[in-house]
Amino acid sequence: MTRKRVAILISGRGSNMRALIEAAKTKDYPAEIVLVISNVADAGGLDFARKHGIETKVIEHQKFPSREIFDNAMDVALKAANTEIVALAGFMRLLSPRFLESWQGKMINIHPSLLPAYKGLHTHKRAIEAGEKFHGCTVHFVTPELDDGPTILQAKVPVMPSDSEAALAARVLEQEHKIYPEALRLVATGKAKL
Ligand code: GRF
Repeated sequence: MTRKRVAILISGRGSNMRALIEAAKTKDYPAEIVLVISNVADAGGLDFARKHGIETKVIEHQKFPSREIFDNAMDVALKAANTEIVALAGFMRLLSPRFLESWQGKMINIHPSLLPAYKGLHTHKRAIEAGEKFHGCTVHFVTPELDDGPTILQAKVPVMPSDSEAALAARVLEQEHKIYPEALRLVATGKAKL
């Protein structure tokens, strides 16, 4: 089995990154994690990746004069690692059209809502305030629109009347850690295609 070379882009905690790294260690998983890039120097996820012997790169967006030049630096790093698939995992930067185009069909993202509902930020709070009975998470191909693009997998959870934002976020996160490795498996084996 040839395993697809996957790079993960993070900005923070990196718990989804961690779920992907753990999955990639299991037998017969069709992808290997070859690189983790963070745009934040002290992102929590970096330590975990380093401890697991994965190459990490910090590319700080504020050190670049424009979004395009920052994205180009990431593109160079991704290509240097012979990346075949990019997985965004809590990566908090918008991407420029050129970068999006060049990774179209090869870049996936996880978003904490049942897309197309609740694109953008503060999804759990908004779902509670709207009185939703269900909420969840989505892994999707990345297309030029923010938090858009064809769904690969979704998981649904109930919203409890007593839920705080944190309680709901935790219930969703547990599902994120399940569906992201499964979605990456589908993309790596070609079963999910843009
Ligand atoms: C997750 O909720 C993910 O869906 C969203 O950002 C959060 C990142 O969490 N895109 P983590 O860094 O993976 O722990």
